[in-house]
Amino acid sequence: MPTCSVFIATSLDGFIARRNGELDWLPGSDGTPGDEDYGYKSFVDSIDALVLGRKTYELASSFPEWPYTGKRVVVLSHRYPRTLHAISENAEGTALAPRELLSELESRGVRHVYVDGGTTIQSFLREGLIDELTITRIPILIGDGIPLFGSCGRDIRLRHLSTQAFSSGFVQCRYAVENAGSPGP
Ligand SMILES: NC(=O)c1ccc[n+]([C@@H]2O[C@H](COP(=O)([O-])OP(=O)(O)OC[C@H]3O[C@@H](n4cnc5c(N)ncnc54)[C@H](OP(=O)(O)O)[C@@H]3O)[C@@H](O)[C@H]2O)c1
Repeated sequence: MPTCSVFIATSLDGFIARRNGELDWLPGSDGTPGDEDYGYKSFVDSIDALVLGRKTYELASSFPEWPYTGKRVVVLSHRYPRTLHAISENAEGTALAPRELLSELESRGVRHVYVDGGTTIQSFLREGLIDELTITRIPILIGDGIPLFGSCGRDIRLRHLSTQAFSSGFVQCRYAVENAGSPGP
């Protein structure tokens, strides 16, 4: 199976977006580059495909420039047929289940996948398919929103790999998933 990584920013209270999907609390969320990229470019250089939830894909498509040029992008939606098919010049879509999708991507030579979108990350975590998480906590409480984590059906143990604090106040933690590869009940 390809290695699957998460690289995501959350509010200190654990949200990835406001309830309505807005990211106004997240510096740089409109696609404009800041002074510090928090390791994002080197992470993206290390992956060869992205699996995005349909909602995250819609957000990325609204940026002035497509952010993933040169990378294979697969969008998950129950609205699509299971077969991988082009949904735009930049992306393919599918309703394949996460494990089947990864097998399919493996057969196409994909080794390292960036999984993005809250619901999508949760569905991969439940299936034991996430290997590593890099979570950058922004020092803000937004009180309500779309949570990064939800019900997993079991405990998922993580091994802390590193923590880096930035002068902006962002704190980035990397974790390996201890029981990656074992599906939930
Ligand atoms: N803070 C950050 O760094 C960050 C990063 C990424 C995204 N975001 C934000 O997060 C929000 C989106 O997150 P989200 O959790 O609402 O949605 P999401 O994961 O991006 O998309 C959810 C949709 O993906 C499809 N999907 C997910 N898992 C699937 C599966 N296993 N099989 C088939 N389809 C599946 C479904 O589409 P259908 O409904 O079409 O079936 C589901 O409604 C956006 O507001 C975005 O701005 C923030």
